[in-house]
Amino acid sequence: MGREIENIIEILNFYKALGFRELPQSFIHSLFKTNSHILFSEPRENTKNEILSIDFLNEKIKNCKKCPLSLSRKNVVCGEGNTNAKLMFVGEAPGVDEDIQGRPFVGEAGKLLTRLIEKMGFVRKDVYITNTVKCHPPRNREPFENEISECFDYLKKEIEIVSPQVIISLGKVATYALMGMNGKLRDLHISKIRGKVFFYNQIPVVPTFHPAYLLRNRKDKWLTWEDAQEALRRLK
Ligand code: URA
Ligand code: URA
Repeated sequence: MGREIENIIEILNFYKALGFRELPQSFIHSLFKTNSHILFSEPRENTKNEILSIDFLNEKIKNCKKCPLSLSRKNVVCGEGNTNAKLMFVGEAPGVDEDIQGRPFVGEAGKLLTRLIEKMGFVRKDVYITNTVKCHPPRNREPFENEISECFDYLKKEIEIVSPQVIISLGKVATYALMGMNGKLRDLHISKIRGKVFFYNQIPVVPTFHPAYLLRNRKDKWLTWEDAQEALRRLK
């Protein structure tokens, strides 16, 4: 349920009359939980509006201070590519190169991802590429539970805006997040999860190996190619 602007002004005046100089956290939370349209405009059919709303979202992400990664990051790494893409890739979190350049998948793992995209018959700017967590975790550690959950709002919104036909989740963290952070998954190796398609809000998600893992385990590239073909079959 949304809240009318007049209603909000009334509440603000009430707090003011009580002598508050700042708003209570609980009020701010309730405002943003129930009025997400105030924070984020809804995605529209029109491409121009979609670009506007991804810009608006990215502005929010760039200013995000919801978790401590915001203190150690050099740059926030937003998603990039075609906001009307049919195919979306979701990685884990920016690495060192991505943190420096402020762009997703630009290091060695990124080069491998770019080759996969090209092998699938696209170029990078045809697809949408993003990460589960938008800031680089120090020393490349895996993102913590709270970092994944705090950041998930952004991924959720990106998926709404891009509205892809298929998502490829790269590695365990992205898969875990898109599967609703089911605790049982967290300790499973991606090799046990891949090969089965699941659905996130009716969008098929094809889990596969993370390209950084493939750099160390080249033989699994064949399985990644099988997963990529499964994703291609599901594109309309
Ligand atoms: N690994 C990721 O998961 N994401 C990047 O952007 C780069 C490396
Ligand atoms: N662990 C991951 O997170 N991803 C892989 O692809 C392999 C191991």
